[in-house]
Amino acid sequence: MMRALFHPFWGRISCFSLRAGILCRTLLLCLVACLPMGGHAMERQLWDAQWRFALADSPEMAQLYYDDSAWRVLNLPHDWAIEGNFYVKNPSGAVGGALPGGVGWYRKRLMLTDNNEYSRYVLHFDGAFMNTSVYVNGKLVGIRPYGFIGFGFDITPFLNKKGENVVAVRIDNAQQPNCRWYTGCGIYRHVYLLRSDDVRLAQWGVQVLPVLKGRGANITLNSTIESFATQARKLSLKQMVYDAEGRCVAQSTTPCVAHEGKNTVSQKIKMTNAKLWWPHAPYIYKVVSQLIDGKKVLDRDTTTMGLRNITFDAKKGFAINGRNTKLNGVCLHGDLGCLGSAINEDALYRQLRMMKDMGANAIRCSHNPPAPELLHMCDTMGLMVMDEAFDQWRTGKTQFDYALFFDKWAEKDITDMVLRDRNHPSIILWSIGNEVLEQWNTDKNQGVDLDDVNILLNNARDPSRLADNKELSDNSKITRWLADIVRRNDPSRLITAGCNETSPSNHLFKSGAIDVIGFNYHTKQVAKVPENFPGKPFLLTESVSALQTRGFYAMPSDSIRRLPGKRRPFIDTSFLCSAYDNSCTSWSATHEATWDVVKHTPFCSGQFIWTGFDYIGEPTPFNFPARSSYFGIVDLAGFPKDAYYLYQSEWTNKTVLHLFPHWNWMPGQTIDLWCYYNNADEVELFVNGQSRGVKRKANEHEYHVMWRERFEPGTVRVVSRKAGRQVAERTVNTAAQPHHLRLTPNRKTLLANGRSLVFITVEVVDKDGNLCPWAENEVFFSLNGHASIAGVDNGSPFSLERFKDNRRKAFFGKCLVVVQAGNDEGEVNLKAKSIGLEDAELKLEIKAK
Ligand code: GAL
Repeated sequence: MMRALFHPFWGRISCFSLRAGILCRTLLLCLVACLPMGGHAMERQLWDAQWRFALADSPEMAQLYYDDSAWRVLNLPHDWAIEGNFYVKNPSGAVGGALPGGVGWYRKRLMLTDNNEYSRYVLHFDGAFMNTSVYVNGKLVGIRPYGFIGFGFDITPFLNKKGENVVAVRIDNAQQPNCRWYTGCGIYRHVYLLRSDDVRLAQWGVQVLPVLKGRGANITLNSTIESFATQARKLSLKQMVYDAEGRCVAQSTTPCVAHEGKNTVSQKIKMTNAKLWWPHAPYIYKVVSQLIDGKKVLDRDTTTMGLRNITFDAKKGFAINGRNTKLNGVCLHGDLGCLGSAINEDALYRQLRMMKDMGANAIRCSHNPPAPELLHMCDTMGLMVMDEAFDQWRTGKTQFDYALFFDKWAEKDITDMVLRDRNHPSIILWSIGNEVLEQWNTDKNQGVDLDDVNILLNNARDPSRLADNKELSDNSKITRWLADIVRRNDPSRLITAGCNETSPSNHLFKSGAIDVIGFNYHTKQVAKVPENFPGKPFLLTESVSALQTRGFYAMPSDSIRRLPGKRRPFIDTSFLCSAYDNSCTSWSATHEATWDVVKHTPFCSGQFIWTGFDYIGEPTPFNFPARSSYFGIVDLAGFPKDAYYLYQSEWTNKTVLHLFPHWNWMPGQTIDLWCYYNNADEVELFVNGQSRGVKRKANEHEYHVMWRERFEPGTVRVVSRKAGRQVAERTVNTAAQPHHLRLTPNRKTLLANGRSLVFITVEVVDKDGNLCPWAENEVFFSLNGHASIAGVDNGSPFSLERFKDNRRKAFFGKCLVVVQAGNDEGEVNLKAKSIGLEDAELKLEIKAK
């Protein structure tokens, strides 16, 4: 019975939050108490372990008797591209991260004994990139081209119920470029094997539609039951609502008859005393559905539910539960830095936690449906989500991208996105596309030169390609068609699209199907929105695109660099962009300039900054050897750039006093010292104890203060004050020669589950512990104990060092090593060495799961 109760998400949630784990176990115990006795429920088994993998291709590899004994054994999720070398000729190009593609196969055995426990078997993939073909015992079960969507196949007819079976999965990511960023290659999300009776709840088949009513809520539950039995079966559907403490607070049972095929059952549950879901207090309920035959539970499903009211208003912007709230959002691509795109809950949680600590309250999954874990975490962390379907429709942006599949697959892919995700309270808005070329009249699959795609999209707009006032264009019809599919499957949320054509004659806007007008960039056009789109709510679906390298400062800091500019190709052999907020793309604006518009425009619902984290690929404004982005507020290794503290000072109440840059310059050099601060009305700077003046942000449009000073070695210190009383103080010292390494882990205890991670910041410091800001020392790592090195990085967007290695050079004084627990408890010892520096050592502990 307990085995049957295993739920994959609850198992995983405990990886990132012990508190959540305890809650889940409480809920499990409570479920046991509620269950009717006898019978076998459906089993959902995480099916990640012990696959065999080969980066090779032959039709024979699908066959039952193919000899795969020499293949590598690994656990999913897996991304083979991240294990490769950066190479200028890899077909992904620098835009795709310059890492390898190719065709790979995964194989796994399944032994069945046919004791009639279960009659149906479904293999479910949360996502595989891309062009996946699934075979069972040599027969093709199904294919799925789109690499960002989850999919499942009923493999029952292909199985040998007594004996051995082989599942073989072919992943084809050979034809590149097929994306404008790094996607990874392989089965990069989790896989489940679902065993069930002949009658079951359909995949993503329970729709939970709560409506707040007074202090309670009315919940409509629409459930799809799937039957493979030729005879109709009389069953009942019991649905229970559990609060966060695991108490069953409401329930309802409906008798139903399951005929062969799909059957829909609707029931309503009334709740009194509803607790609301807020970004600062995300209260989560669970809806448990049981499909019951007499005393036997045939199937069960658990769905997250949150009770909140969201509105987008043309005058007041966005509100949650009646409270006006700016969407302070960031865009995120799916890779996890040096771990590639293979999903790992601890790595993802680290990213989201850092965004939340910065004050972000929203995430845009750009430009595709995310890993399901992201949505579960956003539900429980109180992050609001804009879930996006596509980066292109029928007209491609790269030679082999989704445009090739759109006509055949778009309906299924967008339907599955909505079915999978619609019960998440974190999702507040659907986006049906990002900067699709259908905004204008276009030729099908024209393709665009990737180096120029953003410039073309944002600057070279041709009014003759906009919609006219005659009949609805094909592109407007596609917009309506996609929006209708979304509404059919989820009537509870509004629809937007990220548009860089701001004219109302953009074919997408002209369709009338876009509920919330979404601009990417073009902040200068924002003021005209009420006039151009009367009565329509508005949002900056994408903004900023600042270009910054952590640790590098181009002066004078008050001159703005717009890159790459008109000179093509753009060449700057430093491959560095300034970390003052004085560098951005030619189609965008700086952090401060953009925030100023958003903050002071009440009808603007908010923004999604491009991007929260750096990501692999799209190294604008450079090309190879640059191979990852400069856009992040946090670099690829997870080290915040200075802009992080700008947002923290504006978006949170935490006291911020951030002084930069470092204080290691050439004698006499003129240096601009910036300071982001809050909770204070002035800041005073001291250089070697001498006051250099008090500064204040002069008005509500200023976001930092600055001093221009001649460098002299020693100490710079800032003090912030409110009404004359000191609020905070920060000191930066000139560092002496590199002396030793400092290791700072983000935690010291790991779980013995083979997946738990610790992120260790490695800093090159002088004898007094000051960071050496120019240090590039190479650091070598070794480990003792049941753990391994999952990846190394330093945040450099142009380093060609491997991500999977036991060494890394420091970049502006820092690098990162990620240690992954094995399956056994015990102590782990990490050693870091570098020529000419004192070694460092760190003890970690792996504890039972
Ligand atoms: C946008 C696009 C993003 C990214 C960004 C870089 O136009 O939607 O995917 O390419 O530009 O500035």
